[in-house]
Amino acid sequence: MVISIPTPAQRSQKRRPDGPRPINLNKDVPQVIKLLELVFGHKLGGDGQHLFSGEAGFTQPAFLWRLKPMSNKLALGYVWEEDGRIVGNATLLATRRKDRFLVVNVAVHPDYRRRGIARGLMLALIELTQAKHGREILLQVVKDNEPAVKLYADLRFKTLGHMTVWSNNVSRLRDIESSISSYDPVQPIRELPRNWWRAAYQLDARALPLNLNWPEPLPHDAYKLNFWRRMDNFLNGRHAEVWATTNEANQLTGLASIWSEWGRPHQITLRVHPAWQGLLERPLLAKVIRRLRYLPRRSIRLEHPDSDKLTNELLREANFQPRRTLTHMRLDITAQ
Ligand SMILES: CC(C)(COP(=O)(O)OP(=O)(O)OC[C@H]1O[C@@H](n2cnc3c(N)ncnc32)[C@H](O)[C@@H]1OP(=O)(O)O)[C@@H](O)C(=O)NCCC(=O)NCCS
Repeated sequence: MVISIPTPAQRSQKRRPDGPRPINLNKDVPQVIKLLELVFGHKLGGDGQHLFSGEAGFTQPAFLWRLKPMSNKLALGYVWEEDGRIVGNATLLATRRKDRFLVVNVAVHPDYRRRGIARGLMLALIELTQAKHGREILLQVVKDNEPAVKLYADLRFKTLGHMTVWSNNVSRLRDIESSISSYDPVQPIRELPRNWWRAAYQLDARALPLNLNWPEPLPHDAYKLNFWRRMDNFLNGRHAEVWATTNEANQLTGLASIWSEWGRPHQITLRVHPAWQGLLERPLLAKVIRRLRYLPRRSIRLEHPDSDKLTNELLREANFQPRRTLTHMRLDITAQ
């Protein structure tokens, strides 16, 4: 069923006394955390957020929680209180772009579901976004989380695409055959020339819609690995390498990157120009796997469009494990 979003006047008429209210950071944070732990357990929410993990033991006074830096991440949130306790929560996060917001931590206590609480909280967040002159709201939800997907679709969020999270440890990866008969490289795979960072950004944006990058769209200088960026990376325990394929005209056709940071999994990305899809994924992935053997033996993480069946097959062949598939959804506030 598709609902129409009520006007602010209709909303205030409908709002029940025990309906959504803005979170009070001085007193609500411990209850909200308990609710999120109950609802999400040790799993991550669809949004990949896991606030306050390991912070169990609510011994300190509630108002002290607001001093924790992570509490700020709940600040633009609404809670639903019933029977004197918080049974629902939804949080809005600001992004680098002032008119773009994210929704995270949508959770309703299991005993209070199917009573319109999540819908009420989401409508409050939409209203808040409008008040902040937001133009769009984005969220991620686990693809097979039918109740949540239906909730968002009812509120007119549109699906942008599905991204599968793959991971494994470097030591468990299998090498894959790098060449296929139809790929005859004019140039061998090589490191991205430093002054090609703009072309690399354009190729990336073409291969993967910007809104499928979470939580922020790809920065336009993401591939700018000049001397200062490399020095900064080195000093901060980060490492980045980008491998490129080119066509006869020496134009960029594909990219494979490894982004590493101390204490975090190696992040890898594969981007192939639409005209070359199906031909370059194998050699690029084989190259990345060879390179990973020289890097610290940590886990590896890759988020890739679920629709790219060929790359999914290659990742399985290399022994990457699919962890979960996230549906990215967007609400165009200007169309309300
Ligand atoms: C998803 C969730 C937030 C919904 O909360 P809720 O308060 O029960 O939802 P509402 O009563 O407001 O339902 C609003 C709409 O969502 C959809 N919906 C909610 N629960 C549903 C279910 N179990 N099956 C199918 N549709 C469902 C329906 O379209 C519903 O409208 P309707 O009742 O008119 O048919 C709740 O089930 C929950 O906390 N789940 C676990 C956490 C989670 O998955 N959060 C989302 C992370 S992205």
